[in-house]
Amino acid sequence: MAAQWQGKSLQCLLILFLSSLLIADSSISDPQLEALLAFKASISDDPLGALSNWTSSIHHCNWTGISCDPSSTAVVSITLIQMQLEGILSPFLGNISTLQVIEISSNKLSGSIPAQLGQCLELTGLDFYDNQLSGIIPAQLGNCKNLQLLNLSSNVLKGSIPESLCNCTSLQELGFDTNNLTGSLPSCIGDLINLKFFNASTNGLVGSFPPSFVRLQGLEILDLSDNHLSGIIPPEIGNFSHLSKLELFMNQHEGPIPAGLGRCTNLTRLSIYSNKLTGVIPVELGNLVKLKVLWLFDNLLSSTIPASLSHCKSLVFLGLSQNLITGSIPEELGSLSSLKALFLHENQLTGEIPETFVNLTNLLYLAFSLNSLSGPLPLDIGSLYNLEKLIIHTNQFTGPIPPSISNCTHLVNASLTYNRFTGVIPSGLGMLENLTFFSLGGNSLSGSIP
Ligand SMILES: *[C@@H]1O[C@H](CO)[C@@H](O)[C@H](O)[C@H]1NC(C)=O
Ligand SMILES: *[C@@H]1O[C@H](CO)[C@@H](O)[C@H](O)[C@H]1NC(C)=O
Ligand SMILES: *[C@@H]1O[C@H](CO)[C@@H](O)[C@H](O)[C@H]1NC(C)=O
Ligand SMILES: *[C@@H]1O[C@H](CO)[C@@H](O)[C@H](O)[C@H]1NC(C)=O
Ligand SMILES: *[C@@H]1O[C@H](CO)[C@@H](O)[C@H](O)[C@H]1NC(C)=O
Ligand SMILES: *[C@@H]1O[C@H](CO)[C@@H](O)[C@H](O)[C@H]1NC(C)=O
Ligand SMILES: *[C@@H]1O[C@H](CO)[C@@H](O)[C@H](O)[C@H]1NC(C)=O
Ligand SMILES: *[C@@H]1O[C@H](CO)[C@@H](O)[C@H](O)[C@H]1NC(C)=O
Ligand SMILES: *[C@@H]1O[C@H](CO)[C@@H](O)[C@H](O)[C@H]1NC(C)=O
Ligand SMILES: *[C@@H]1O[C@H](CO)[C@@H](O)[C@H](O)[C@H]1NC(C)=O
Ligand SMILES: *[C@@H]1O[C@H](CO)[C@@H](O)[C@H](O)[C@H]1NC(C)=O
Ligand SMILES: *[C@@H]1O[C@H](CO)[C@@H](O)[C@H](O)[C@H]1NC(C)=O
Repeated sequence: MAAQWQGKSLQCLLILFLSSLLIADSSISDPQLEALLAFKASISDDPLGALSNWTSSIHHCNWTGISCDPSSTAVVSITLIQMQLEGILSPFLGNISTLQVIEISSNKLSGSIPAQLGQCLELTGLDFYDNQLSGIIPAQLGNCKNLQLLNLSSNVLKGSIPESLCNCTSLQELGFDTNNLTGSLPSCIGDLINLKFFNASTNGLVGSFPPSFVRLQGLEILDLSDNHLSGIIPPEIGNFSHLSKLELFMNQHEGPIPAGLGRCTNLTRLSIYSNKLTGVIPVELGNLVKLKVLWLFDNLLSSTIPASLSHCKSLVFLGLSQNLITGSIPEELGSLSSLKALFLHENQLTGEIPETFVNLTNLLYLAFSLNSLSGPLPLDIGSLYNLEKLIIHTNQFTGPIPPSISNCTHLVNASLTYNRFTGVIPSGLGMLENLTFFSLGGNSLSGSIP
């Protein structure tokens, strides 16, 4: 009996002792420290030992990746980039109300983005780029009204872009690309008037540009490529004077290419291929003197090629193939001396290859196939001595294959079938060390293939 009582009282004492310890401990405990320890505990693998000095012997402000406000020792940032961290994101991070920046990009974090991050009202930057985060984008992030950068690119997030993010009007950079997002762009997206960089490419987004979109006139880079977006490209995009890259390729946009784009003279890339765009190639695009890449191929464009494009002196890649383009190739294009690739195949082009094209000496890739082009090849075609691919099959070219072609020593692929070439096959072709594909069938040539 006595022994039993003694045992019980010992138990009681022990419990009293332990709970007083707990009380003492919690009275000195720091919720920020607790949250960081919870973050560490949710990391299941840390092969580089990035968190190895996250120990009690070191003040947490001196832990790898942590910065504190020097005066208050409040945690202001967590930066753990490319550390091969595996595990999940602890919801306890939401307890660090002073956090301004979380950069945990290029790791292997999985699980969902904790909705509790919506409690971090001081956040200006949230970067989870290149992880394996899944689930939806929590609507609570819309509470973080000071966010300037939100980069959730290259994860496996699903669901739609939450409307609540329209409240984050300080946002300048927004990255959602390479996820599994669906739904349409939020109708309120035009509230994000400070947005400069928006990338939501490679998702399953649907619907058309919401009317408010035209307010995003500060955009410098817009990439919505590789989605299922439809509807027209708003003509007001011509007011986006800061635009340097516009990537809307691989969608289902229809209607015309806005002529107003000719006012976006800072454009270096205009890439709107593989849509259902109709109408003309606007003459106004000739104003885009900084343009390096103009990809309009695989649409339903039905005009002629405007000679004004010859004013786009920076052009390196010009792709107008797979459209319904008519007329002849403007000789003015021969002045685009930076051009490396010219794709005009699968159109309804007629006329001859302009003599001026012998000046395109930087050309690597020339494709005119599947048109109704005629006449001879320029005698000096050999001046295109950088040419690697010459794809001109299925036209009505006549005359001989100019012997100067042997000067194109880098030639890898020359496809000349289904034309009306005559004469002999130039013997010099046998000297071209890299020429692995050379087709001539469907012509009236004589002599043997060298
Ligand atoms: C962090 O380390 C530095 C140098 O070792 C030390 O001076 C400083 O007091 C430490 N900070 C905190 C908050 O303990
Ligand atoms: C913690 O580890 C990092 C390297 O991972 C090192 O740069 C840093 O100086 C360490 N901090 C302390 C206080 O030892
Ligand atoms: C910290 O966050 C967790 C998870 O969100 C929550 O359960 C807990 O009550 C918070 N603790 C403190 C001290 O705020
Ligand atoms: C934006 O914030 C206001 C209050 O600050 C709130 O009433 C509203 O619901 C928020 N909008 C969205 C779309 O979350
Ligand atoms: C997201 O981060 C990656 C890697 O730093 C960067 O390349 C990309 O431009 C960022 N996206 C946005 C929208 O800031
Ligand atoms: C994306 O969603 C589709 C359809 O829901 C699914 O089949 C696919 O596996 C998902 N991809 C990833 C990487 O989660
Ligand atoms: C947008 O993201 C995709 C996928 O990560 C990337 O390939 C592309 O270069 C980005 N666009 C721009 C304009 O930076
Ligand atoms: C924007 O563009 C439209 C049509 O291209 C034009 O009528 C309008 O005046 C422009 N608005 C602003 C604010 O520049
Ligand atoms: C055009 O780009 C240059 C830098 O490439 C920049 O300095 C200039 O401000 C831009 N112009 C506009 C209107 O955004
Ligand atoms: C090639 O360019 C030079 C210099 O601009 C010019 O004088 C010449 O006429 C051009 N050649 C052809 C065939 O157009
Ligand atoms: C042959 O190629 C050289 C450069 O390798 C070039 O300077 C020359 O003009 C070319 N000649 C002809 C006839 O195309
Ligand atoms: C042939 O191809 C090889 C491998 O791509 C390259 O290194 C070499 O420079 C090429 N030769 C010529 C004449 O282009």
